[in-house]
Amino acid sequence: MNIDGNNYRTIWFENNIVKIIDQTKLPHQFFIKNLKTVEDTINAIKTMEVRGAPLIGATAAYGLVLSIIENKEQSFLQRSSEDLIGSRPTAINLKWSVERMMKKLSGVNGSEILKIALEEAGIIAEEDVEFCKSIGVNGLKIIEDIANKKKDTVNILTHCNAGWLATIDWGTATSPIYQAHKKGIKVHVWVDETRPRNQGANLTSYELSEEGIPNTIIADNTGGILMQRNQVDMCIVGSDRTLSTGDVCNKIGTYLKALAAKDNNVPFYVAHPSSTIDWNLKDFKQIPIEERDSTELSHIEGLDKNNKLQKVLIYPKKNNTLNLAFDITPAKLITALITEKGVCEASEQGLKSLFK
Ligand code: MRU
Repeated sequence: MNIDGNNYRTIWFENNIVKIIDQTKLPHQFFIKNLKTVEDTINAIKTMEVRGAPLIGATAAYGLVLSIIENKEQSFLQRSSEDLIGSRPTAINLKWSVERMMKKLSGVNGSEILKIALEEAGIIAEEDVEFCKSIGVNGLKIIEDIANKKKDTVNILTHCNAGWLATIDWGTATSPIYQAHKKGIKVHVWVDETRPRNQGANLTSYELSEEGIPNTIIADNTGGILMQRNQVDMCIVGSDRTLSTGDVCNKIGTYLKALAAKDNNVPFYVAHPSSTIDWNLKDFKQIPIEERDSTELSHIEGLDKNNKLQKVLIYPKKNNTLNLAFDITPAKLITALITEKGVCEASEQGLKSLFK
């Protein structure tokens, strides 16, 4: 997608180096970072220089490539795969991608292993681009139907960043929006700021604006009153882990938005590729919910009056915090899931009708 008129993906491999866009610096600086070791990759995932379920999956796949370049011993690769899976626990794409790579590499001999690892990481990335593009095509119909009925701009609310920055290209929740915009349908996006890390304000608004899509950043608590005032036609969010039951684990605050949507009869869609489906867990209470550092709540970063990035404390010096990064939206609050294979009910039956 577009940054300053140039086409980018979020990750690529060049001369034995993994290149990423450092998302901790956006929107104020556009900085391409080099990852040279598996340790660099693990750090990039932990510190959220790369984030978003599909992108951390692809990054982990390239992390294994770097691990093989560093050391071809099987025990090193095994440890790398475990450390990568442990780097962020909630998004299933990470585990999915590492397990897929390890399966592909099992029994492969020393001279072949790098070539095969690189090929498979490339396929994982390419597949994500294709899947996200198809999510857009499948979700476009939903936006188009609303536009045809309303004969006016379609107002869409989204939470966090499930945009191209969270994937390799297109995004999940944003992909139908990009497709609609390309087709000339008038859309406007309400972008939840998404405290504490502000992925909505810093990333979603940034990428939508770069693509020329009208958007307005709102505080996380504003969505409810906008829905009561009929200013939201639909919600679309992403997912970090969708259970086969149709329950969706996504960025903290998604659940409250889905409750408000239900109360106001606003359709609530979740867009994700099949790599985000956890076919094993049945009980959402068993999903490991990442708890992040308290400084993400107590401190905030921005430009000072001299255009310098500064981090400042916004809480009392003595404070107790709880920083849960994700919550669960039960299937009963979800209108439908939008996947690369089509749109389905958020239920085991719905998912199986597309994937089994
Ligand atoms: O903590 P983050 O920024 O990695 O969380 C991202 C989200 O919650 C996204 O909605 C999700 O990963 C879907 S990405 C297409």
